[in-house]
Amino acid sequence: MENVLELKNLKRHYPIYGGVFRKQVASVQALDGIDLSIRRGECLGLVGESGCGKTTTGKAIIRLDDPTSGNILFYHKEKKDGVDIATMSPRQMKKQGIRSKLQMVFQDPTTSMDPRMLVKQIIAEPLREQGGLSSRALENRVVELLELVGLTKDHPMRYPHEFSGGQRQRIAVARAIATNPEFIILDEPTSALDVSVQAQILNLLHELQQRLQLTYLFVTHHLLVVKYISHRLAVMYLGKLVEIADTDDLFNKPLHPYTHALLSGIPIPDVQHKLKRIVLSGDVPSPLNPPSGCRFHTRCPFVIDQCKSEEPVLEEVESAHKVACHRKNEVRKLVYDQFG
Ligand SMILES: Nc1ncnc2c1ncn2[C@@H]1O[C@H](COP(=O)(O)OP(=O)(O)O)[C@@H](O)[C@H]1O
Ligand SMILES: [Mg+2]
Repeated sequence: MENVLELKNLKRHYPIYGGVFRKQVASVQALDGIDLSIRRGECLGLVGESGCGKTTTGKAIIRLDDPTSGNILFYHKEKKDGVDIATMSPRQMKKQGIRSKLQMVFQDPTTSMDPRMLVKQIIAEPLREQGGLSSRALENRVVELLELVGLTKDHPMRYPHEFSGGQRQRIAVARAIATNPEFIILDEPTSALDVSVQAQILNLLHELQQRLQLTYLFVTHHLLVVKYISHRLAVMYLGKLVEIADTDDLFNKPLHPYTHALLSGIPIPDVQHKLKRIVLSGDVPSPLNPPSGCRFHTRCPFVIDQCKSEEPVLEEVESAHKVACHRKNEVRKLVYDQFG
């Protein structure tokens, strides 16, 4: 399958300034060398605890934020050779028609919408920015989009606050698909919603993906949310990817101790066998001063000396299953011996 997007050694370090002269004294290593390919038409789930760098990844891709280094290769339909958007300016992106092909839906729709704008203006915003449509055509497109996301014709003349959380997220989705994007980042799109509404929004996203042949990067801290919608999952820890696999493989056979711990902490329906419970000690360390070697070593129950000094690389262990762990080939046995 062809890739839509390839992240190569992508980094985002936020400088921290201090002292009288406001010199840079440290940096937050929010992303520290991400390598990830996203295939056309798939939903790739990006999971990990709060603060591990998921939103930073999304913002870097749609260039709401400037990566510190690395590449973001975008292979859009008209430019199959790919373009590196990591260093492009917003103006260049717009000029090359790339900006409108990449969209993002945020966790809290209220903060991403101007409360003084009517719904029709909110949805039409990216279309206006793209240009080229008459006001009549814009209106028609807005009606069409509202229908696609399950809202009705009398909704465009209202303000965002007149809607429920679920409806507002539908509006955010309508806005995101307005320009016929190829790639959408969904950043915890259901986390702020009531449980009963979450499933409706997930269904809508799933339907739209098939209907419009979209590619998703679905960001969440909640593994069960992405279990049914994602084809593959990538697990993040402190600015690094630790494991990537097909969703079923990851749930049935996690190979990184961190993934194992995440999964064993939640009751998972329809997984073949129960995972032995691993409880992690301590909190996630700060990305301001991340641990040496493997970043997970301070919390890993299977830590050895090598983990403290040498950083493991993300390598394929089984077909399409990659893990970054020095003890990747022993983990299953270790879990069994120590927690069985
Ligand atoms: N503008 C910023 N300046 C400094 N640190 C930041 C900034 N934005 C995010 N961070 C830090 O980067 C890390 C990753 O953040 P984020 O990508 O939002 O995590 P997630 O979405 O996985 O919860 C966190 O430690 C966060 O505090
Ligand atoms: Mg986030």
